[in-house]
Amino acid sequence: MLGRSDEGVLLKENGLDVPLPDGSTAYFNYYWLRDNCPASFDPETRERVFDVFGLLEAPKPAAAALVSDYLEVTWQASGHVSRIPVAQLLQYARPGQRPDPANLPRQAWFSDHYAHMARFSHEAVLHDETARRDWAGAMLTDGVALITGMPDTDAGLTETAGLLGYVRPSYFGVTFEVKTHIKPTNLAFTSKALPLHTDLPSEEFAPGIQYLHCRANSVEGGDSIFVDGLAVAEDFRKADPEAFQLLVETDVPYYCEHDTFDMRARQRVIELDEYGNVSGVTISQHHEDIFDMPQEDLDAYYPAFCRFGQMMRDPKYVMRFRLNAGECIVFDNHRIVHGRVAYSATSGERHLRGCYTDRGELRSVYRVLAGEGRFK
Ligand code: OGA
Ligand code: ZN
Repeated sequence: MLGRSDEGVLLKENGLDVPLPDGSTAYFNYYWLRDNCPASFDPETRERVFDVFGLLEAPKPAAAALVSDYLEVTWQASGHVSRIPVAQLLQYARPGQRPDPANLPRQAWFSDHYAHMARFSHEAVLHDETARRDWAGAMLTDGVALITGMPDTDAGLTETAGLLGYVRPSYFGVTFEVKTHIKPTNLAFTSKALPLHTDLPSEEFAPGIQYLHCRANSVEGGDSIFVDGLAVAEDFRKADPEAFQLLVETDVPYYCEHDTFDMRARQRVIELDEYGNVSGVTISQHHEDIFDMPQEDLDAYYPAFCRFGQMMRDPKYVMRFRLNAGECIVFDNHRIVHGRVAYSATSGERHLRGCYTDRGELRSVYRVLAGEGRFK
């Protein structure tokens, strides 16, 4: 049956036009209306239980009408009645992605950020949901925060990280100890300078959020150096748009090889989000494999790559500070480039304990704590 139904709802071949309270008329496809009928979702699991693949014919309404705050559609074959809230129709009337509360605007920061860095006590993030939400929020906007008053225990790190997601292992294990190792498998496990980098780009999905819990730091040297890769990359885009494009488009090989592992993956130096904004960077000279791109392409790539690497070292961007025992620095490993200056291994003790969680779970934690979702 095609034609006009009640209350100005116009039935068409594949969908219907419905007048909305904001004065507009919007078109909705019949499959969409049937698939997203509230009865299609199980209230307990909150998952869709309607099987759109099981429809033997395209869904067609026998009738459709606006009844108070609902669009009521009676379906021809099954006789099922869908009551779809007009609020849901309003939300999907115009094309565009569902708004995401975790899409907080990223704020670029510079060398003077240490004094402004978001700080939360271990006690607060553990027991106060508002502090935990603000911490997750700071991770989304600034990509870095400091947790103070950490207990001097191994469990302190994983307990803290567990607040923003499940701890995810890497090929170094569930956690790792940054101190001078007798047989180091990583530059970090020596007392040498550790140039600005992001961690583990040889993983298919490099870890998202990194935690470094400082258990001891009484050595001479060893200051931390942190840079907001997003601030550098956005400035780089303005300074040299062609070089920027090369860093966005070119896959770079990374490796990490020892007796029991041989990790390899390709990553792009600059990562963009779906809106074209910089959402991250990947840099690690010590884990960069021998470039295997066509040599002719390197004529343009190397200068662009080096210009970006040099820009990252501009004092304008480098936040230098000392990480103290009892602090845990938490940062977005896809955005914040970090390292440390060399230290004297015999001058005292330096020990950081680290682990990772992922970016997706950080966003999930923020959404839950911000109290927004389809089932709230
Ligand atoms: C690392 C690292 C920083 C430091 O282990 O990946 O960056 O201060 N360590 O030792
Ligand atoms: Zn690192």
